[in-house]
Amino acid sequence: MQHGEMNKEKMHGMHGGMHGPISDAMTHVNYKIAIISGKGGVGKTSVVVNLAAALKKKGMEVGIFDADVHGPSVPKMVGIKTEMRDILHGSHGIDPVVTPHGLKVMSVALIWPTEMTPIMWRGQYKARVIRQFLSSIRWHELDFLFVDLPPGTGDEPTTIMKSIQGLDGMVVVTTPQEISAMVCSRAINAAKELNAPILGLIENMSSYRCPECGKEEFLFGKGKGEKLAKTFKIPFLGGIPVDGQCSAAADEGVPIVYKYPDSLSAQALLKIADEILTRLPPREKVVVKDRPWHEGRDPHKTLNEELRREVDRKEK
Ligand SMILES: Nc1ncnc2c1ncn2[C@@H]1O[C@H](COP(=O)(O)OP(=O)(O)OP(=O)(O)O)[C@@H](O)[C@H]1O
Ligand SMILES: [Mg+2]
Repeated sequence: MQHGEMNKEKMHGMHGGMHGPISDAMTHVNYKIAIISGKGGVGKTSVVVNLAAALKKKGMEVGIFDADVHGPSVPKMVGIKTEMRDILHGSHGIDPVVTPHGLKVMSVALIWPTEMTPIMWRGQYKARVIRQFLSSIRWHELDFLFVDLPPGTGDEPTTIMKSIQGLDGMVVVTTPQEISAMVCSRAINAAKELNAPILGLIENMSSYRCPECGKEEFLFGKGKGEKLAKTFKIPFLGGIPVDGQCSAAADEGVPIVYKYPDSLSAQALLKIADEILTRLPPREKVVVKDRPWHEGRDPHKTLNEELRREVDRKEK
């Protein structure tokens, strides 16, 4: 059986029949995809934000859950300002923040009292907050929900992934420098342990094109990601070149696929989004229901007070 076929079967099996408060909160989410990496700083968040933006550009309803308690950077990369943090909530849960491009975003950073709040929570406590958080978010209808996990494949990302039942796929992000059988096999083994299908591998910072002469350089070797994907019999989803515009767009809080759609990185990301679409089992596109703005909300309350109280208590 081809790897892709096995994935598809697993995906069908995993999509239905899940229960519990977290699954209930994601009832109307078509595809749940987590992004993992063997180590930090490989561009995982940049990939998450831009794949989400690329699919939004294609007319999908897309959400991002930033579960990186140590360095939640999704809000900054999509331009969520401090004043947008007031999340209306009611007895039914927390509403994600909607970015100017229409991405629905929720991040642990948005429930911290300030951006400077130190994160020194212990593992168990963190897992509890994340689980409670996940079960409170009102995503409503989404075609895609991307989950940005803490770097690495230790206890923390694994615990978070375990909380989200019925993951439709995992995407492994790596760079040519860190490509080693050991680092990548850790990420792949973590996915296997969770019984989640691996959609494939993305090689970030795969090449560099000289802006002067246009020559493409493979600073850390050519085709490493593709080779590694072959070794582990997982699909290779594509490479993303190093691009100054990529970090500039991130600093400005606009995904590069919106800010510089013609740049090499944006083109690569749009292609990878297409590749992901072809690898998922077809499901009917969601229809977003019209809801009165006040449905289930208490306009006198901001933020999820229960979660906030827990955070405050821990910080004293
Ligand atoms: N292809 C690229 N070209 C240029 N800069 C990039 C590229 N990909 C990522 N970056 C930059 O590299 C830095 C790290 O990226 P990012 O935060 O996405 O990594 P990460 O894997 O999520 O890190 P962490 O492990 O800390 O969560 C950011 O400044 C980002 O703008
Ligand atoms: Mg990150």
